[in-house]
Amino acid sequence: MLRIGLKCYDLALKGSLPMSQENDSEELATVAASLRRHLQWRQRAGIRVIAKGNMKETSSATPRDENLLGGTESNLFSDSSMAYKAGSLEELRAAIGDCQRCKLCAGRTHIVFGVGNPQAKLMFVGEGPGRDEDLQGEPFVGRAGQLLTDIITKGMGLKREDVYIANVVKCRPPENRNPEPDEVAACEPFLKKQIDLIRPQIIVALGKFAVQTLLQSKVPISKLRGNWHSYHGIKLMPTFHPAYLLRNPADKKLVWEDIKKVLSEMHGENA
Ligand code: URA
Repeated sequence: MLRIGLKCYDLALKGSLPMSQENDSEELATVAASLRRHLQWRQRAGIRVIAKGNMKETSSATPRDENLLGGTESNLFSDSSMAYKAGSLEELRAAIGDCQRCKLCAGRTHIVFGVGNPQAKLMFVGEGPGRDEDLQGEPFVGRAGQLLTDIITKGMGLKREDVYIANVVKCRPPENRNPEPDEVAACEPFLKKQIDLIRPQIIVALGKFAVQTLLQSKVPISKLRGNWHSYHGIKLMPTFHPAYLLRNPADKKLVWEDIKKVLSEMHGENA
């Protein structure tokens, strides 16, 4: 499989994928289609280097000082990208379009962009849509979502419409597997732009993927949670993901400790 994939990659780069030669199996076609989409996305994003191993990618982007997406993050967009230039969440959603930038597009029903108050003081960031979210096009509406809604409404005394809720990846990974690095890389610019447009006072990062993506850290969530961190000057509280709490209800009390810190910060009690 790996050999077929590498061969495909090589041929796709040369623009001459042999769809009807001896390897015209369904598997080959799937790999080829996925690679084509990925290469097309890279071209649109202005990425000119084919990375080997840990090599850094370069793009034609130029950073904009007033944008929260500074330094390498602004390089995630091409400078002509509509997403980079979007001045509102609606424009950003329009720029994402019928996204084909990574292989998750193949299995999705809906792009799950985000929901809530565009001027929210508080933003929750999760990992990626599950089955219910994929079907409804809204983040956190399944079982884990019900728990998050309870945290927001019963725990914090807020409404879902008061806050903003988004995910690292906007399309459902098959069988709810973890998002893969290329999928996170393709989608994280949109999350970062969402944060840039909303500029919340506080971000609650739910689970490993949200925390590690936003903080660019490999430190386990169990070590990061419960302490304040900074995402470009925005206070960020890492906590456990609601889906983890469904499997480990004893840890709900730890999340409640974290949420109480968020409430104190929101009410200015730490000033
Ligand atoms: N889990 C997430 O991380 N996000 C959702 O939207 C739903 C479940």
